[in-house]
Amino acid sequence: MNYQWYPGHMTKAKRMMQENIKLIDLVIELVDARIPLSSRNPDIDELSKNKFRMILLNKADLADSRYNKEWAEYFKEKGFSVVEVNSKSGAGLKSIQGAVQEVCRDKFERDRKRGIVNRPVRAMVVGIPNVGKSTFINSFAGKACAKTGNKPGVTKGKQWIRLNKGLELLDTPGILWPKFEDQKTGMRLAFIGSMNDDILHMDELALELIRFLQQHYAGLLEKRYGLDEAMAGGGFDGVRKGEEDEIGKRTALEEWQKDALGMLNRIGESRHCYSKGEELDLERAAGIVVDDFRSGKLGRITLEFPV
Ligand code: G4P
Repeated sequence: MNYQWYPGHMTKAKRMMQENIKLIDLVIELVDARIPLSSRNPDIDELSKNKFRMILLNKADLADSRYNKEWAEYFKEKGFSVVEVNSKSGAGLKSIQGAVQEVCRDKFERDRKRGIVNRPVRAMVVGIPNVGKSTFINSFAGKACAKTGNKPGVTKGKQWIRLNKGLELLDTPGILWPKFEDQKTGMRLAFIGSMNDDILHMDELALELIRFLQQHYAGLLEKRYGLDEAMAGGGFDGVRKGEEDEIGKRTALEEWQKDALGMLNRIGESRHCYSKGEELDLERAAGIVVDDFRSGKLGRITLEFPV
């Protein structure tokens, strides 16, 4: 499958970001905690040169907590301030204020030397589509936020949300498109639903996801779709029939479990995905697996790991 990003107004969005970035001290970059690298656009580093940097591992509730910690360390080592958040529930948002103070230390020092007191940190939220930028701004700003309106020296029409005396947020996030040369990145973006599903083959996507899960989260699919029982009852007949001895049975079972297509079939059976004529509708089964992953019903899963 060839994963491609749908065409958008990329140049316009980037130009807008370039303009806005001049006005701010701090870039708050949202990434999807399930794919912290694949959901970044590498141009952001160039665009944010000389700015203070913060990475929010958003949707941390959907990602594996072990790897959230590892990713946080990974980015910290690269000089970012990092906070794990769930913008939907608000978890983790309280830690941001302190992290802002910490990462912008040099700004306060600079201001102090120039005799400037209480100039708030100005921040802008950036990220690829669907990482949760709007959700974050709404939750973080909450109801208490006040729009500060236009100010002298600020490009006309820019709205700042005053979060408190020390922090103002530009109300429009900077949108960057994902950028990728390798298909793995595209695939990961497709898994989390950041690609246009219309151009994807759901069954191929589900098979890739199943392969990944069997390798890294063994037993998870069986548990979710109640497949252990089916197997114990001899549910996987056909391909392996006739292998009577214990070792044969075990090997057959292991092979079967590794076989993504076999697994998709079993999921289809267990979820009664039949089309007319009792044929298994694998496309429907594929949709169920992918949707269950995206909504977190499969559990907390991270799709890429720090190296
Ligand atoms: P964007 O501005 O970056 O494009 O993203 P947006 O805020 O629109 O969020 C995209 C989707 O991600 C939304 O779901 C939103 O609810 C969800 N989301 C954002 N942050 C989090 C988070 O930390 N955890 C979880 N679990 N979900 C998050 P949606 O399906 O488009 O809408 P809805 O489910 O809210 O109705």
